[in-house]
Amino acid sequence: MKTRITILCENLVGRLVGSGEHGYSCLIETDKGNYLFDTGNGHSVVPNSLVLNKDLKSINKIFLSHGHYDHTGGLPEVLKLKGKVDVHVHPYVFLDRIAVLKENGKETKRFVGIPYKKGYLESLGANFVFNKDFVEVGKGIFLTGEVPRNTSFEKPDPRLFSEIDGRVNQDIFLDDQSLIFDTDKGLVVILGCAHSGMINIINHVIHKTGKEKFHAILGGPHLDFLTPEQLEESIKSLKETKIDKIGVSHCTGMRAAFRLHQEFGDRFFYGCVGSVLEI
Ligand SMILES: [Fe+2]
Ligand SMILES: [Fe+2]
Repeated sequence: MKTRITILCENLVGRLVGSGEHGYSCLIETDKGNYLFDTGNGHSVVPNSLVLNKDLKSINKIFLSHGHYDHTGGLPEVLKLKGKVDVHVHPYVFLDRIAVLKENGKETKRFVGIPYKKGYLESLGANFVFNKDFVEVGKGIFLTGEVPRNTSFEKPDPRLFSEIDGRVNQDIFLDDQSLIFDTDKGLVVILGCAHSGMINIINHVIHKTGKEKFHAILGGPHLDFLTPEQLEESIKSLKETKIDKIGVSHCTGMRAAFRLHQEFGDRFFYGCVGSVLEI
């Protein structure tokens, strides 16, 4: 299967065209069909698709990694172009979510959940397909479903909360799922924000596919909030994994991205708006 992955939404711009935003989305073009993984926060998915010569009407399925606004906010704009399409999600994608942040010395609460109701998205053409478990969504294409948390060093982000059945608790992101393509060169894994923990996700993918060779790991590993010790544990585990390329984006954090570049050298690249990986 020939595959080309293009980053449509991302915090940084890597080409002469396109706009950055706090969010993530990539388009996966294959000879069997085209897929959209996440939709950014809504500002740039359509404009960036146009300047990068990508036709969002061509997509066969949409996958949402989790219910944060910066991965789901562009869904209405995509649906207005595409119309009826399957949107694969975990049922918790619609949870109410809050981030508690320290800004200018003050504690600020922000709503960070999916900004649209299910019924509105359905009226625009979304056909939600729910999964909690590892599932094949196309030939050689899989969603991880819920990822078991086994590592000691990958902890939930203490700034993030969600509401389930009227109770607000630290958000453990059971809806966090990654997309896997089984290619001739090895597995390609696209993370959303990796709220389950990047190493937990890799271990889950190895367990479920029975394969250990990764051609590429892309997307946001959410390493920014980890302590230096936790970050080093993550990098140590990553180095024990067989990976040809690591192309991080979005919620990686500059400190972690620089460390990954140090460790992975030419195998590392930063996935900006417009970055392409051809397999
Ligand atoms: Fe994110
Ligand atoms: Fe997130």
